[in-house]
Amino acid sequence: MAHFVKTHKQPYDGLTKAVSGRPLVGKSALITGAGRGVGEHITKGIASAGAAKIAILGRDKVRIEAARDRFAARYPETKFVAFAADVTDENAVAAIFDAFGAPDIVINNAGQFPDDGPFIQQDLKPWWAGWETNVLGPAVVTQKFLQTKAVPKGAVLLTVSSMAAHMRFPLTGWAGYNSSKLAQVRLFENIRIEHPDIRFVNVHPGNVDSDGFTRSGASAPPDGMTNGELAGDFFAWLATDDAAFLNGRFVWAEWDIEELKGRRKDIEDGDLLLTTIDGFSKGFF
Ligand SMILES: NC(=O)c1ccc[n+]([C@@H]2O[C@H](COP(=O)([O-])OP(=O)(O)OC[C@H]3O[C@@H](n4cnc5c(N)ncnc54)[C@H](OP(=O)(O)O)[C@@H]3O)[C@@H](O)[C@H]2O)c1
Repeated sequence: MAHFVKTHKQPYDGLTKAVSGRPLVGKSALITGAGRGVGEHITKGIASAGAAKIAILGRDKVRIEAARDRFAARYPETKFVAFAADVTDENAVAAIFDAFGAPDIVINNAGQFPDDGPFIQQDLKPWWAGWETNVLGPAVVTQKFLQTKAVPKGAVLLTVSSMAAHMRFPLTGWAGYNSSKLAQVRLFENIRIEHPDIRFVNVHPGNVDSDGFTRSGASAPPDGMTNGELAGDFFAWLATDDAAFLNGRFVWAEWDIEELKGRRKDIEDGDLLLTTIDGFSKGFF
């Protein structure tokens, strides 16, 4: 699956060109978990692509406000607003959309690595709390977004999933994370059927150095870590019309965008990049 098309670990010309013309000028975005790690890279990618206004969200008030100040200094043409909230808190998330309005782009990035060793040893309370952040959190953010007045037609909702949703790792200590990431994918494959005017894409950001990656206990893949800038630029590209054909799909930030575009017909006609089990491709239809 990782080799669906050619892959990149570092920024490359095709992607850089696709986002360097500031294709997101005038757009607004809301990004969860934006104060560090993958969320910080995504925020930089969306701001570099010209977004006018970005709301960033995290639980830690000091951290998210410090991130806002860093972003504001680096991207003076973008307005940043920081919100401290837990993504599983329905009232807090609803209040954020009331204050910010319905953005053109929503990115469900906040997530946790809930496993502490083999399943049999887990304290299932914190384990489940991590599962809630990964599944209930994006559900809350998405539902409150959809319930906000004047959701823009053609809005884009990107969810930071993981290769963990699909890879058959022979690893112990990943039952909570892998299952929560697969549940996320199915959540959005279903919600999108009810909202054909909105584009939903599930995305593996690559293996990006972060507090979360360290906490996960994963080792760097043999071919190296993914550059965070590449991941951020890929999310920016996904928010442009150029990537509209990927609606509903699961994609990797490392995939070459020109080759992906070249496979558009295969993806659309062959129902590729959707979840199923081997040998049972189309269910009842
Ligand atoms: N790093 C990788 O290689 C990798 C690979 C595949 C997928 N991912 C996915 O990428 C996303 C970000 O991961 P990361 O590696 O950047 O992890 P991280 O370094 O632990 O960052 C997680 C972010 O999410 C926020 N967060 C966590 N729980 C939250 C909650 N309940 N409500 C609101 N915000 C919350 C954290 O902010 P506060 O602590 O301030 O709340 C932080 O900004 C996750 O969805 C993860 O599954 C990462």
